[in-house]
Amino acid sequence: MTDSINTKKIPKHIAITMDGNGRWAKEKGKSRMFGHNNGVKAVRDTVEGAVEYGIQYLTLFAFSTENWKRPKMEIDALMSLLVSSIHDETKTLIKNNIRLKVIGNILQLPKKCQKKLDECMLLTKDNTGMTLTLALSYSGKWELLNAIKNIIKDKRTEKEISEELFQQYLTTKNVPDPELLIRTSGEHRISNFMLWQIAYSELYFTDKKWPDFRRNDLKNAIINFQTRERRFGKTYTK
Ligand code: IPE
Ligand code: IPE
Ligand code: MG
Repeated sequence: MTDSINTKKIPKHIAITMDGNGRWAKEKGKSRMFGHNNGVKAVRDTVEGAVEYGIQYLTLFAFSTENWKRPKMEIDALMSLLVSSIHDETKTLIKNNIRLKVIGNILQLPKKCQKKLDECMLLTKDNTGMTLTLALSYSGKWELLNAIKNIIKDKRTEKEISEELFQQYLTTKNVPDPELLIRTSGEHRISNFMLWQIAYSELYFTDKKWPDFRRNDLKNAIINFQTRERRFGKTYTK
């Protein structure tokens, strides 16, 4: 396998399910939060790597609808970590010309998280480099139901419904579907992430647990992606 990225075949949009923080910490005899705290370092390096490799959209699955079923103590600590990380990283986002976007049922997040996220989105809204999307309190099924509810509210007719129109009702409207979906920690499942958008995404799984993931791992995933033949149902490419 080649060890460099073909700069002519860079995916526009990469999505990552950042998994394995708890198990990473457990292996070290530490608390799950130790894993989450170290996960932030992986986010920082991966985001910088994505900018370096010329990715236009990076979407990180950070907290799912189903994650609300975790013990309250872990949820509270994760929400505090979210606030402090956004606080600490806003400067770096600005420096790197990154625009922050959030998808998910944001109103379910604690007020202080909503406030911090709004603040950071406002400060970065005119940035023209990479769009970093955090999926928070997000699930694909939630998003699809939400789209259907809004389509009904807007009194759209059966005739009007098309893939293009439906896409306009998704949280990722105006964002291209991810060409590549990465999941860490050796789990081979979707766990309710971007169910519509990943219809033709290439899937890449690594055994590395999220806190160990670095830009070089992102690079390896991109190089692997570049070896795939994407046929989209046809018998040939292009
Ligand atoms: C991913 O790590 C972070 C979140 C889902 C919030 P996990 O917390 O799922 O860690 P494992 O999978 O239990 O090891
Ligand atoms: C998926 O990881 C959600 C996020 C990474 C935010 P989970 O750890 O919640 O998924 P399952 O439970 O292993 O499917
Ligand atoms: Mg997990």
